[in-house]
Amino acid sequence: NTHFATNVTYQQHQVTREIRANSLGKYPGFRGCTIWFTGFSGAGKTTIAFALEQKLCELGLPAYGLDGDNMRHGVCINLGFSMRDREENIRRVAEVSKLFADSGIICLSSFISPFVKDRMQARLIHEMSGLMFIEVHVSTSLSVCEARDAKGLYAKARAGAIPGFTGIDSDYEPPEQPELIIDAGEETPEQSVQHVLDYLYKTKIIP
Ligand code: PPS
Ligand code: MG
Repeated sequence: NTHFATNVTYQQHQVTREIRANSLGKYPGFRGCTIWFTGFSGAGKTTIAFALEQKLCELGLPAYGLDGDNMRHGVCINLGFSMRDREENIRRVAEVSKLFADSGIICLSSFISPFVKDRMQARLIHEMSGLMFIEVHVSTSLSVCEARDAKGLYAKARAGAIPGFTGIDSDYEPPEQPELIIDAGEETPEQSVQHVLDYLYKTKIIP
């Protein structure tokens, strides 16, 4: 099958995570991991992840935000929103997240990622490489997301202009055991960022 790579063998790096980490950021030590934000469109995933990215970088802790809207401009440009395309979308961005985490960066991944099995796969991709995967459910209710409708997408979806819109005519399966739950309908982005930071301090991921 010409669609699959054959005759490829995994090549080992010569540099360890620890050694690479020492040339990165303000603090020595490896702290690469992925913080994965899942939730409805408009829940606050991007807002929280990008504010946290800024905060961490200010503290001297290298972080990078990978976002659904952005990844779909490049790596995932050939994917739509069918169940299969979302599955492939999450597979790809999970692999990219893993590389960022492996490189020693705190990867902040914000994707609706509506299906439990795809998020499970994303977690597995990390944990098989010995990398922490911290699932954050941005649990803002659908009614709040729709009332805010920051991008006007819910209005479009209700009008039938976006078939397969999450929460309207496409499923969202909430995480059963996320590391963290943040209701961005009940708190400010600053408070949400603080909640994730508290978790990172508590678990000693950041000093
Ligand atoms: S997924 O489900 O994880 O593959 O989606 P993701 O890659 O995060 O992309 C979500 C952003 O795409 C826009 N958009 C849609 N969202 C949901 N359903 C449909 N049908 C859809 N079409 C376009 C929307 O801007 C999403 O961004 P967020 O930040 O979630 O609002
Ligand atoms: Mg977003």
